[in-house]
This record gives sequence, structure tokens and C-alpha cells, in this order.
Amino acid sequence: MLSARGSKWAETSYVHGAQEFYDPVKNPHGVVEFIPNDTGTGEIYQWDREFLQKTSLLDHGITFDESLCGYGEYFTGTQRLRQAMASHLNEYFAPVKQVDAEEITFAAGVTILNETCALVTCNPDADEAIMVGGPIYGSFSRDLCMRTGVTMEVVAVGDTDQFTPACVAAYEAGYEAAKARGRTVKALLICNPHNPLGHCYPRETLVGLMQLCARKGIHLISDEIYALSVFERSDRDSEVFTSVLSIDTAGLIDPNLVHVLYGMSKDFAAPGTRLGCVISRNREFTDAVRAVCRFGSPSQFSMHIAASLLQDKGLLAEALLSEAGIDFHAGGNAGMFLWINLSSHLPLAEANGEGWAAEKLLAKRLLDAGVKLSNGETYNAPEPGRFRLVYALDEHILREGIRRISDALQGSSV
Ligand SMILES: Cc1ncc(COP(=O)(O)O)c(C=O)c1O
Repeated sequence: MLSARGSKWAETSYVHGAQEFYDPVKNPHGVVEFIPNDTGTGEIYQWDREFLQKTSLLDHGITFDESLCGYGEYFTGTQRLRQAMASHLNEYFAPVKQVDAEEITFAAGVTILNETCALVTCNPDADEAIMVGGPIYGSFSRDLCMRTGVTMEVVAVGDTDQFTPACVAAYEAGYEAAKARGRTVKALLICNPHNPLGHCYPRETLVGLMQLCARKGIHLISDEIYALSVFERSDRDSEVFTSVLSIDTAGLIDPNLVHVLYGMSKDFAAPGTRLGCVISRNREFTDAVRAVCRFGSPSQFSMHIAASLLQDKGLLAEALLSEAGIDFHAGGNAGMFLWINLSSHLPLAEANGEGWAAEKLLAKRLLDAGVKLSNGETYNAPEPGRFRLVYALDEHILREGIRRISDALQGSSV
């Protein structure tokens, strides 16, 4: 009754609906799940709850309005969300070149983006494949192959060896072995930090893999969904996370061949938002991905929540200062501070017309109002009245601080 592929898919193991999970009180005979990825329950562990509280998803004060019921900016990520994600990546992934919102495409999870990478890089009818090193995240076999007709070429790189530069030779051998069988590898997919081994790739290994991909003219897809879920160990040295975005491609690989996957499911403990993104400098790749992601578009509600969580504090600080009518130096794109101009609020009369003394008086007035800013004089400002405002604060503190500045300035205008 079904198509051949429909019948095959009907036999695929897939867990639907509520599960009988163990709960010490409500369901003591339930099953203790050690495979939350495969059940789709999401990984909301205790630390995740603490994290959620910290990032204040639970009390973030996010409000919705009816505009979110529309198509909005359509299917592949609002400008606000892409901008907020670009700032997040620029802050935490140490990219060699700042990530631009235009290089980011959103879809309903990294799962569909892995599939999309297979769709846009491989021809199914020509036995083209994506190469991975085993062991690796089990769902890749479904994500890359199930609907695409693309093959996954698994190279045995071992539990430990796949993080040393020695793995490059194993991948090269795997590539050649596939070729000898008539299969063309079109991309190497790595998972960094690695699922299930829990390792981060050292920079030198990533460099070796980039060189390999360049030699073979294949894409390097780096699934970095666990980028910030890295912890230090007190018992031994451990590798820190290095994004491929932080490696200068010059002389190593054409940047058009490098693509990074990231999302909300792990580092934000928010798999229910179903939000993932791919970052690529390759225009043609991005255009193709966007055309496909129309079929796996995230909801406007999810994008709104994620954008509120990620929202660039710098942009927020600029918006709050503008709202409060406080002048600042616009146009910067580095650091986590703004250079504000309060010269029109200097109490010059009280300081006998002496600008720097007036700046000190104003700083004291602000401190009395509950805000501390660095004076421009200590930064060798050419004129009095400039202050440096560091905005890397929790959102509610940032809002409160700017409200206090605004209140303190009321009535101090000259
Ligand atoms: C390496 C890796 N990529 C992708 C995913 C799926 O991500 P998403 O929830 O965004 O579809 C997972 C989930 O466990 C994963 O481990």
C-alpha cells in the first residue's frame, strides 16, 4: 500500500508520545533512560535547570504578541535571531573573522540541517557519501541517509585515536578505500565536542582535517552543537573547545568548504525550541540550504524565545541608551563596553567651570544614584564628560543600571 521507501520507513524504530520514565515518586517502576537523544525527550538534567534559571529562560519575562502568529520573515531565521546568534558565536567561538548574520541559516533543529548538508553536497544516484569516523553519534546514520539516499562512509578511527593528528591518515585511507569501491566521498562530518566520546578536538587535528578536506576537495562539516557544554577536570588536563571558525583557513582550505552546525538543544538545554543553525561563508551552499530548510522551518515563537535569550547585550544597551536619550559612540564592533557622552550633563557651575572637576562631580552623583562608571579622564578622553559603560551584565541589571543613570541625569542637564 505504501511506496517502497514508505514501507521501509514504517519499520524504522521511532519513539512517539509519552514514555514511562522512572520517577522516584510518580513512577518508581518506570525505565531509567540513558538514551535521551533517541527518545526525543531532550536533555534536561539538573544542571540544565540551574543553567536555565541562570540564563533566566524561566523568568525571562518574554512576552508574545500576535505578530508571531504570522509568517514573519519566513522560514530560515529572523534577522534578530541571526544577529543575536552571530554575536553569541563571535563572543564564544573566537572566530578568525567575525561571523555575519547573513552567513547563518536557521532550521527546526540540527538534525534537519545535517540532512540538508547531505542533500546539498551529495548526489544520491552517483554513490556519493559523507564520511564520518566511528564511533559517532548514532542518529547521523538516519539524519544523513534516511530521506536523502546518500550513503554514510564510516571509517574506524577508534575511541581515542580520532582526536590525534594520526586520525588524518585513517580518514585519508577511508576516503581512498571508498573510492576504490566506486564511492565518492563528498564531505567529512565531525562532531566537536564529540558525541559519544566527550572529547574536544585539538587545534592541530582540526588543521590536519582541514588540509585533508582541501587535498580531496571535499566539504568539512563540523557539528559543534556541544560547543559550550565543556567542563574542566581537576584530575587531569583536558582539551578546550576549538571551533573550526577560530582557525584561519588561509593556506589550509577554501573557506567555502567549511560549514559549522550549532543549535539550542545542548548548550541552552532547550531542545524543545527545535532550533539549529548552519554557519557558512559559501553563498551557493547557503542558498541551497535555505531552499531546503523551507521544509523544516522553525516557529516564530521559538525564534522569538531564542532571540530573547541570545539577544546581544551590546545591541540591547545601545537601544536602552537611545531610549533614555543618552549619547554614545556608535559604530564599534568589539569589546563589551560603550563610550557614553554625558558632557551636556556636567555640573560646570558647581565646579567653577572646570570640566574635569565637573566630570568627577558627575561620577559622584551617579555613584550616589547607585551606578559606577569609569571616568573618561582615566582613559585620556580629549574632553570631559565621557564615561565607559560595560554592558556584560545580566539583562535585568543592565536595564536597572541604565534606568538609574537616566534618573540621575534628570534635572542635571545644563
Ligand atoms: C552531535 C549531535 N548533533 C545533532 C543533534 C540533534 O540536534 P537537534 O536537537 O538540534 O536536532 C544531537 C542530539 O543529540 C547531537 O548529539
